[in-house]
This record gives sequence, structure tokens and C-alpha cells, in this order.
Amino acid sequence: MPFVTLREVLEDAQRNKYAVGAFNTNNMEIVQAIIEAAVEERAPVILQASQGALKYAGIDYIMGLVRAAEKNADVPIVMHLDHGTDFDQVMMCLRKGFTSVMIDGSKHPLEDNIAITRKVVEAAHPMGVTVEAELGRIGGTEDDIHVSESEAAFTVPEEAKTFIEQTNVDALAVAIGTAHGVYKGEPKLRFERLKRITELIDTPLVLHGASGVPEEAVRKAIDMGICKVNIDTNIRQAFTKALHEYVNDNPEVFDPRKILSPARSAMKEIVKEKIRLFGSSNRA
Ligand code: G3H
Ligand code: ZN
Repeated sequence: MPFVTLREVLEDAQRNKYAVGAFNTNNMEIVQAIIEAAVEERAPVILQASQGALKYAGIDYIMGLVRAAEKNADVPIVMHLDHGTDFDQVMMCLRKGFTSVMIDGSKHPLEDNIAITRKVVEAAHPMGVTVEAELGRIGGTEDDIHVSESEAAFTVPEEAKTFIEQTNVDALAVAIGTAHGVYKGEPKLRFERLKRITELIDTPLVLHGASGVPEEAVRKAIDMGICKVNIDTNIRQAFTKALHEYVNDNPEVFDPRKILSPARSAMKEIVKEKIRLFGSSNRA
């Protein structure tokens, strides 16, 4: 099935109160795990490449792997740039065939975030590519992006309204208490803030840093208007745990295919679990 955009999958999610999983991908095994999970669950899915993925695999390998997977998959797939850093990087992704991009201007003051986001929207929309932005600052670490607790900042609902009016983005990542990476304690989501944001804007909202958030909280956030949920850390953890276990149990094995197969299966299982949690099974 040809790639689709965020708008095409998030509209239905928003209308029917479920979320589409956005899963980070870095190599062939991860792409296969995500796509097989989505196909078996009959779920629309978002594959996304982070800064680390682009650095590790390179954009051509990522795009080549995803195109190969898309050829045989009969579910809607969005190819999305995660936490895009600047205009030039977005342009590169447009040229390579991404159907969606995130421009993360959250480290900038509001006016600058609006300016860079608007510039990206003006370039992407005429090419039929959707845009996600971030407002407020999500804490934690993902690849090279480190946001300390003191730098993290919740999304201000009134600013979200201004931001949407001035940028016309297709999806907005909100900072409501989640963080990238592994949580030290249990994350506490600010539902009042989420509610206020949804009272002021209709734009589909995105939950980053969703690995490790209790299932109840994820469900509640989706029920309140989150339409896209990002998962990276849980996939990495599933991969590494299965790989360690296999190598520990089979120290004599040196065939990478044997070592990586259980890791790929473990990632597929976690992606399926998330898809069911997000309510996107049988929505393709
Ligand atoms: O952009 C990617 C996600 O926000 C990753 O979040 O570290 O909780 O999996 P995670
Ligand atoms: Zn993120």
C-alpha cells in the first residue's frame, strides 16, 4: 500500500478516539518487527526516524528498508521524521520520500519556534507532506537530544492556540509530564493541562516519551485527545533483553541471524501490545 500522511491516519483516530502508534526504527529487524505487527493487527502505523537513526543507518538505508517493507504491507504506513532539527534536514527528507516530518523548535522562544515551524509548513504542505511540531519542552534523553528537568517545560494551552493559528501544523506534540528514555519514578501526566489544550485547539495531539507510562494513563490521554503515541525506548529494551537472553543461553552461537531472530520477535510482540493498548487494531 502506498505511503500515507499523518493527516490521513490521524483524522480517523481523532474521530474515533484511538491513537496511531509511532514507532522508531533504526535497522532492518526493527522495520520488519513494526510492519509485521501492524499487518497482523490490521493497524495503521507510523514509522519514524530519529536523529540517531539517520546518523546510525543513514537516510538512504532507512528509506530503502521502509520502502521494501511497504511493498508487501496492506496497511496504511506513514514515513515520518522524528524531532527534525532544521529546515535543511526537512528538505532532505522531502526529497527522499518521507510523507511526514516533525520540526522540533521547542528549544527556541515561542516566536522563533513559530517562525521555523511556519517555514517548514510552507515548504511541506504544497508537496503533500504533513508536519508535526512541539510546544513546551519534553524532558529526558533521546539520542543526542538531552533536556534536563530544569529545561523541561509544560505546554501552555493559550500558547498552543496561538501556535496553531500561526503555523497550521497537522499535529502538535505537547509536554504534559512525559519524558524521553527510562523513567526514574512513575510519570505523572497533567490531564488538566491536556483538557485545557483540547478545549482551545482541534489539532491532533501527540504524546512523546510514552514508553514506561502506565497503561491507564496512556488510555486516559488517548480518550482525552491524544491521537499519536511515540514509542522508542520500549522497543530498544525488548531488543536488548531478548538478545542478552539468547546470547547467555547460547554462548556457542555466532550466527547473527540466530541471535537477532528472537530480538526481532520480542520487538514485534511489544509493538503489537502497544497497538492494542492504543486501540488502533482493526482500523486499517
Ligand atoms: O520521539 C520519540 C518518542 O518520544 C520516544 O519516547 O523514549 O518514551 O520511547 P520513549
Ligand atoms: Zn519524542
